[in-house]
Amino acid sequence: RSIVILISGRGSNMEAIVRAAQTEQWPARIAAVVSNRADAEGLKFAASQGIATAVVASKDYPDREQFDAALRVVIDGFAPDLVVLAGFMRILTAPFVEHYAGRMLNIHPSLLPSFPGMATHRQALMAGVKVHGATVHFVTAALDHGPIVAQAVVPVLEGDTEQSLEQRVLVEEHQIYPRAVRWFVEGRLSIEDGRVRNSEAG
Ligand code: GRF
Repeated sequence: RSIVILISGRGSNMEAIVRAAQTEQWPARIAAVVSNRADAEGLKFAASQGIATAVVASKDYPDREQFDAALRVVIDGFAPDLVVLAGFMRILTAPFVEHYAGRMLNIHPSLLPSFPGMATHRQALMAGVKVHGATVHFVTAALDHGPIVAQAVVPVLEGDTEQSLEQRVLVEEHQIYPRAVRWFVEGRLSIEDGRVRNSEAG
């Protein structure tokens, strides 16, 4: 099985997945890391691991449709079983999402369905919630609303800032995302009635 990971920046979730695939000897390989920005920091780590990298620069395309079409050609050139969005900061068009239905995952830094969209840690602080976290979900056309695969919870502490909360959540992202991807490549996940069934968790 093969996986293509999409990033836009730092790529720390991508790195966690690459390392888990290596150390846990998954029945899958990371075929490529693709970025919409040439300066994405994570591309360096991927290249250092001998993983193919590619850039499809969003700024080179006049609209979302043409960007998504070009991105799809590059991704499909690696014939992935799974596409993993890891800090990929582009909203994808419905035809693109449809093409990868049931085989594209995303991680969102909140406990969905709370706080979709941007600045999730600020949203959490503003709302005064006492717990926060991250969600791995299948990608559907509705932004940040696909079937949920895994979640991790962290406390919101007195005196937290966006940065301290982000850091606490990120540590958990690096745990749940590799685990969720591994479940997928092991064939444990299915979607029934819009919800994820995990044959390991029962
Ligand atoms: C993560 O918090 C992820 O949940 C969000 O963007 C951030 C990306 O970080 N979608 P990284 O690029 O994986 O380090």
